[in-house]
Amino acid sequence: MNCARIVSLVFTVLCASALLTASPVQAATEMDRAFERLEKDFKKLRDALEAPQAADRDQYAKLADDMLAEARKARELDPEMTPNVPQAQRAQFLEHFRRDMDTFIENIGKLSEALKNSKWDEARQLMEALRLDKKEGHKAYREKKK
Ligand code: HEM
Repeated sequence: MNCARIVSLVFTVLCASALLTASPVQAATEMDRAFERLEKDFKKLRDALEAPQAADRDQYAKLADDMLAEARKARELDPEMTPNVPQAQRAQFLEHFRRDMDTFIENIGKLSEALKNSKWDEARQLMEALRLDKKEGHKAYREKKK
């Protein structure tokens, strides 16, 4: 191996290790991805409900049903911060997470029903309930971002 190749190899190894150790970017978890998909539908629905059209109600209900599917997936996963919760409180932490996700899931189910029946005011109220579920859920169960 000549000198230039050795220098180039050392440089590559140093760069790779710097990237691995110093990267501030946290990898998205499976739960992050489920919530990101849910959020896209949530935003579409929130915008649509500003001027809802009865003819589009099946599309709206489909968005809510897709949100329901993502919420059900997220419910079965453990939040990223779980290992940082002291062992003695971990079971209760997970129990509370699933309890709050059940309430959230129930609210999405009600939203879907309201949309299928063109009950727009009720749907808007349920969207607000979901927003509050999110606020509380993130405060209690989401890893604080560095
Ligand atoms: C409309 C409702 C919600 C939306 C739009 C939403 C959105 C998001 C998004 C976009 C992320 C990933 C990126 C980030 O961390 O910001 C996320 C992560 C997370 N959300 Fe939500 N969320 C909602 C409701 C909830 C609820 C009800 C809970 C708990 C009861 C919850 C718990 C979490 C947790 C724990 C994470 C981090 C994932 C992990 O620990 O692996 N979210 N959410």
